[in-house]
Amino acid sequence: MTDTAACWTALENAPTATLKDLFAADADRVGRYSATLAVPGSDILFDWSKTHLSDDLVAGFEALASAAGFDTARETMLNGGMANPTEGRAAEHTAQRGMGADESVAEADAFHMRMRGLVEAIHGGVFGPVKHLIHIGIGGSALGPALAIDALARPTAEWRAPVDVHVVSNIDGNALEAAFEACDPATTMIAVASKTFTTIETMTNAASAIQWLEESGVADAYGKVVALTASPDKAVEWGVDETRVLPFSESVGGRYSLWSSIGFPVAIALGWDGFAEFLEGAAAVDRHFADADGFANLPLRAAFVDLMYVQLRGCQTRAVFAYDERLALFPDYLQQLEMESNGKSVLADGSPLGRQSAPITWGGVGTDAQHAVFQLLHQGTVEVPVDFIAVKQPGHDLDPEHHAILLTNCFAQGAALMAGKDSDDGARAYPGNRPSATILCEKMDPATLGALIAFHEHRTFANAVLLGINPFDQFGVELGKQIANQIAAGEGEGFDPSTEALLKTAGLKD
Ligand code: F6P
Repeated sequence: MTDTAACWTALENAPTATLKDLFAADADRVGRYSATLAVPGSDILFDWSKTHLSDDLVAGFEALASAAGFDTARETMLNGGMANPTEGRAAEHTAQRGMGADESVAEADAFHMRMRGLVEAIHGGVFGPVKHLIHIGIGGSALGPALAIDALARPTAEWRAPVDVHVVSNIDGNALEAAFEACDPATTMIAVASKTFTTIETMTNAASAIQWLEESGVADAYGKVVALTASPDKAVEWGVDETRVLPFSESVGGRYSLWSSIGFPVAIALGWDGFAEFLEGAAAVDRHFADADGFANLPLRAAFVDLMYVQLRGCQTRAVFAYDERLALFPDYLQQLEMESNGKSVLADGSPLGRQSAPITWGGVGTDAQHAVFQLLHQGTVEVPVDFIAVKQPGHDLDPEHHAILLTNCFAQGAALMAGKDSDDGARAYPGNRPSATILCEKMDPATLGALIAFHEHRTFANAVLLGINPFDQFGVELGKQIANQIAAGEGEGFDPSTEALLKTAGLKD
């Protein structure tokens, strides 16, 4: 078996060609580098033809996948094995969608049934009229719900349930106050979402929400709270009645937890059937990821592209532009998924990685971004691989012209980045040969969004396996939290002069 170092050397020495030459050499490049992922009721098309992927590179990356033990790592993860060795546990987000160890799938089903009961009780009026839900959580306990609700619970969506959900993450009181302003306390419930049920931002916001309810005359404020957590005892201790605690397994990572009870606000906003379709969309991708091998495995193929740009072409960032307002939060979601998962400097065994890990994921929404940051993509000095994500069906009833302009612009940007344009005037010349991939969804519905997110989870995992890192821990976030806690506890003697001066100027220290 070839070792991974030899595979990387072979990849680094593989011939390269410009996008123009790659297209010129292969009349069927679009067909060979595009693929369709079947989603219940729809399809997602992936077009990687405008990337620098070539047959040589695909062969090289397939050899790397084999040398890195991709098939075994995938099996371990999908079967509830030890996928997260540094934290000593499995990574069982797929069990939430029906794929995993039998007992984990059974437990996830039972937790879903419990959640469904509460969702249907709320929709059915058991808690009196509920018109608003303030969902309090941060990181993985907020980004997924915020994305799914913004994408799917639009006013005209057929599956939309009659409860407005406000996701509040930031400790900055301006965020929570804005939610209070938008809600009537008499008809509001609060979801406190925290895997650990200790996160300071979430617990502080939750306490303020209780205070707001009490000061607004709500008789049993804690009776309006639902807890979504892998630490149910802590939620009960905090004051939530056990009947309104929706647990999930410790082996579901925070940034992979949208499918568990952290998805409660999504089910409240969409109705249970909508949430079930969301899970089913993700499950369809799980089946593909489990069954397809090598280049035919689309999340793995996407990882080939990612690694080609970072490792072979030195790109330090990757950009994602959603040409669809409904997916405006998708880049934010991906930032946590990709950067918290793969922004590491060591291999799974703790030894130095010795190469760049995850690129910086950034992006925005089209066409807005064209008028703000695309200058750099077209004429800047760095190569930035771009993913364009678009949706064929508009989802609104305005003049179809809106959608035609939106999609036209999306495709035009990819074409322009690749083609470039010569000019005698340097300022007006475009180098071209700049890569992009296009992900075109048929429509934006729960199954499609579930599939799109699951695709990116597996893509992130595939990147990690080929690099040899553990994508499921996140020790890098701890040090800053510890220092903040020390400062808050008045144990902050001896910080650097800059930090000391800032604390004093802000009135946080004498
Ligand atoms: O600080 C990072 C992090 O641990 C994320 O991984 C997680 O999604 C977030 O904080 C919130 O954690 P919790 O759900 O435990 O409140």
